[in-house]
Amino acid sequence: MKFWNFIKGKARGLLGKMGVGKFNANKKDKKEKKGKDFRNTEEKKRDLDDALKESHNLLKSGMNQAKIKSKLHDIKNKYELKELRIILEEKVEKGIKVHVHGEVNPKKDSPTEILRVDDFNPSEGNKILLVGEANFSFSLSLANTLALQNRMVATSYDSENTKYKDKDNNIKEHKKLGSIIEYNVDATSTSYEPNHFEIIVFNFPWIKEETRGGTTNNKMLLKSFFNEANRIIKKGGKVLLSLSDERYVSRWKPEEQANSFVLESKKLFDSKNFPGYEHKMTQKDRSAGSMEDGKGVTLIFKNK
Ligand SMILES: C[S@@+](CC[C@H](N)C(=O)[O-])C[C@H]1O[C@@H](n2cnc3c(N)ncnc32)[C@H](O)[C@@H]1O
Repeated sequence: MKFWNFIKGKARGLLGKMGVGKFNANKKDKKEKKGKDFRNTEEKKRDLDDALKESHNLLKSGMNQAKIKSKLHDIKNKYELKELRIILEEKVEKGIKVHVHGEVNPKKDSPTEILRVDDFNPSEGNKILLVGEANFSFSLSLANTLALQNRMVATSYDSENTKYKDKDNNIKEHKKLGSIIEYNVDATSTSYEPNHFEIIVFNFPWIKEETRGGTTNNKMLLKSFFNEANRIIKKGGKVLLSLSDERYVSRWKPEEQANSFVLESKKLFDSKNFPGYEHKMTQKDRSAGSMEDGKGVTLIFKNK
């Protein structure tokens, strides 16, 4: 499934004038006039996905409000949807967060499903690698539930003696559960064998940028990480990449950095589903983004 959600910088006025939430409400469903819908469920789902994708691009395009309104109407008709409208989510720092809602039976919204421990469970005999773990609390939360023993390799970029509250305890617990713990692991260049892991996880990657608000270094981090993941992941394996909120998805464009992967789904990251997890910011970097519950997103990529 694909989900589309973005921040539209100057959407405030635009949404008001467009009548957010009311758009298309009074329009008679075209299919009612045309008669029976002969599409099967898969075809309907595909049409809905395509319509949401086109709508997302449209909203990103910076087109004026009248054009957006008319083009959304065209998209709704083209894909024979019951409904296609913009939903106002919340006010954010630089404007308004919106998403497109489409309905063709079944309904589909963005965003969407919640990330759960089971999303990280490798199939029998297969392994999971976590990189950039900092205090090892996220991997411990998985290890506590999934009983993976030596099929979990949890790693940090930091050295063994880097201090984090609870880190030593977390490592002790990990060892009791049989997890393999490694330090100084650079996610962009590891020494693991090719085709080694079924699942690779990078939660809230972050490195310092040269300029405030810059994206170059983090885009490069993601690109190099995906290249390395492609080398060490099993064919068809998955990368789960979590980012603090949708702004990072728009700015770092993970899909563009993930050459050998295809985005399979996007889920909401809620730390309540990972008991014991305590988010850590990049060491000594005050500009590092923090993770706020309810805003985090996890992109699930499948190796091609
Ligand atoms: C914002 S912190 C998140 C830490 C942890 N994943 C969490 O969720 O609490 C970003 C992490 O990315 C790690 N990182 C940065 N560059 C890395 C790289 N090349 N390889 C692995 N980890 C990296 C940093 O060491 C830091 O721990």
